[in-house]
This record gives sequence, structure tokens and C-alpha cells, in this order.
Amino acid sequence: MIRVGIILGSTRPGRNGEAVARWVHDLAVKRGDATYEVVDLADFELPHLDEPMAAASGDYRHEHTRRWADKIASFDAFVFVTPEYNHSFPGVLKTAVDFLYAEWGNKAAGFVGYGVDGGVRAVEHLRHVLAMLGVATVPAQVTLSYWTDFENGVDFRPAAMHEDRLGMVLDQVLAWGGALLPLRA
Ligand SMILES: Cc1cc2nc3c(=O)[nH]c(=O)nc-3n(C[C@H](O)[C@H](O)[C@H](O)COP(=O)(O)O)c2cc1C
Repeated sequence: MIRVGIILGSTRPGRNGEAVARWVHDLAVKRGDATYEVVDLADFELPHLDEPMAAASGDYRHEHTRRWADKIASFDAFVFVTPEYNHSFPGVLKTAVDFLYAEWGNKAAGFVGYGVDGGVRAVEHLRHVLAMLGVATVPAQVTLSYWTDFENGVDFRPAAMHEDRLGMVLDQVLAWGGALLPLRA
């Protein structure tokens, strides 16, 4: 079965991201069509990029990088759960992406964005960055609104329509993730 990493892209204390990632994971697991795992950036405690060699060399000198690389290498596809911070995705997620290279390439990714405006600008930025790394980003995406999907901005109560949209994202991620397997073999 295809292995899908659900990357939780915010680490802020009290973050909404945790509930969103859990929602993605719970609905995904019910499908029974792949293995799904939440990857919480907070568990990896990556510093500002401190590798002396370019990530494309794969010559990782630090244990924290090797641990992160092993985790990302273990997946065939990803769902990025990202908030929007100042019209982009969080710096901690950019750093986590920048630490690696080959571990991302020729894999598929989908997006669940959230924020005041549904996280759409954050996801657009992330698509640009991932294009450089050879990630195939699927067109469907989930856009969760701070105003209507989080009570008082904090209690996650997603509108029912988002479940269908998440299903579309996962369908596309699995289809493209599967199609790319031979390329990496
Ligand atoms: C530093 C910061 C900047 C933000 N900038 C934006 C923004 O530009 N556009 C937007 O739609 N929401 C913005 N928001 C709202 C967040 O997307 C929203 O609070 C979200 O729940 C934050 O994710 P988190 O709780 O997982 O950290 C910002 C929030 C923070 C903390």
C-alpha cells in the first residue's frame, strides 16, 4: 500500500493545525486504501538550516537531518496541512522542506490549507517551492476558513462539504503517488 505522510506544518503553542491534521488522518484512515501517518514538525525540532552541504548532495552531517530524511524518505506521497502566515506558509515548514532534496522528489502531494482566507495563498506559495523539488502537486485542495470552520477562531468544526473535498484530494494523491512509483524504482 502507498504510504502517505500528513505533514503538520505549524508548531505554534495552541495551534489549530493539530486538530486539522487529526481530522485529515481520521478521515483518511477510514478509507483503508493506504497507510497514513501524521508527521508533526514539532517532534523533529529542526534548527535553522545548519547543513554545510547542499541538500541535493544528500551528504547530511547532522543527526536531526538524517532523522528527518529517514522519515520523509519512508513516504510515497504527502498531504501538507498548512496555515497561512502573512500570505505564505510558516517558516518552520519552509525550513523543513529546505533541509532535504531527493527525499521529496517524484512524489505526489495534496494540500489542506486554513486561515482567514482559507490558506489559499499559503498553498500557492508551497506549490511553487515543491515544484523545484520535483513534487507533483494535485489540483484539488481543502480550504478551511478561520471564520466558518473554527468556532471563535479556535474550535475546529469543519463544514460537511470539506469531507468531500478532502476525499478528492486523497483520490488524486493516491492516483499520482501510485503512478510515480516506477519512476523512483
Ligand atoms: C503570524 C500569523 C500570521 C497570519 N497571517 C495570516 C494571513 O496572512 N492570512 C490569513 O488568512 N490568515 C493569517 N493568519 C491566521 C492564521 O492562518 C490562523 O490563525 C491559523 O489558525 C494559524 O494556524 P495555527 O493555529 O496552526 O498556527 C495569521 C496567523 C499568524 C499567527
